[in-house]
Amino acid sequence: MSLLRRLPPVLRALLAQALAFAALVVLVRLGLRFPALVWVLLQAVLAVFLSRWLDLGPRWGVMQAALPFLVRALWGVPIPSWVYLLLFLGLALVFGGGLLTRVPLYHASEDAWEKLEDLLPDRPDLRFVDLGCGFGGPVAHLARVRPDSMFFGVEASPFTWLVAWLRCLPLRNASIRLGSLWRTELAGFDVAYAFLSPVPMPALWAKARREMPPGTRFISHSFEVPNETPHRVIPVKGREGARLLVFEL
Ligand SMILES: C[S@@+](CC[C@H](N)C(=O)[O-])C[C@H]1O[C@@H](n2cnc3c(N)ncnc32)[C@H](O)[C@@H]1O
Repeated sequence: MSLLRRLPPVLRALLAQALAFAALVVLVRLGLRFPALVWVLLQAVLAVFLSRWLDLGPRWGVMQAALPFLVRALWGVPIPSWVYLLLFLGLALVFGGGLLTRVPLYHASEDAWEKLEDLLPDRPDLRFVDLGCGFGGPVAHLARVRPDSMFFGVEASPFTWLVAWLRCLPLRNASIRLGSLWRTELAGFDVAYAFLSPVPMPALWAKARREMPPGTRFISHSFEVPNETPHRVIPVKGREGARLLVFEL
């Protein structure tokens, strides 16, 4: 069960819909007959329940409820196949990195950006990196409030990278790269920050320990490093349990 809950949210959402659909197939096989709209409603209700069971949040619940009605509404509408292809490519560009890396796209709150600001050492010419920078919120904010230092972001999903790149374009002390955090050498940074998932934390911590010199700082948003006690834990606004875990190297 915990294995299922560790799947990326989009896969858990699909699984919930698939399980709900399988349950409806069983009901049909048992001889139940309802009007089409009742089946759609049943699919939606079951999918929402299963989504809660799979630990998906309320926003996913709303999407899960809406999806069967959307499919029903579009059923039989002659939509050209290139529209589906375009939709698929769009989704792959935004969420593709997350599917491959098992790290979904969600964002640190502005409160977290401000608390990160307090965690930057109080001297000029710092180098900060956001490993998996999403839409670039933390990098852009920090670059604005600390014009004396350089802020970098690396992002694996092309569309997400493009948004972050455009957002940081006017800032001369911010730079966003399209690529993998695993190919980012951490030796040159004073502070490395990541908001990923539990999955990459052991390997990321090993990488930080290997590459970052003593006196530097590694900050994980919300996700623990197994068997390591952070030097500081700073609660931040956002989803339940959101916090910054600060490790001094
Ligand atoms: C939870 S979001 C965090 C966004 C931002 N750092 C923040 O704190 O608001 C994680 C991001 O990491 C990206 N990501 C996941 N694995 C990655 C990897 N191996 N290399 C680069 N980016 C990655 C995902 O595409 C996603 O945009």
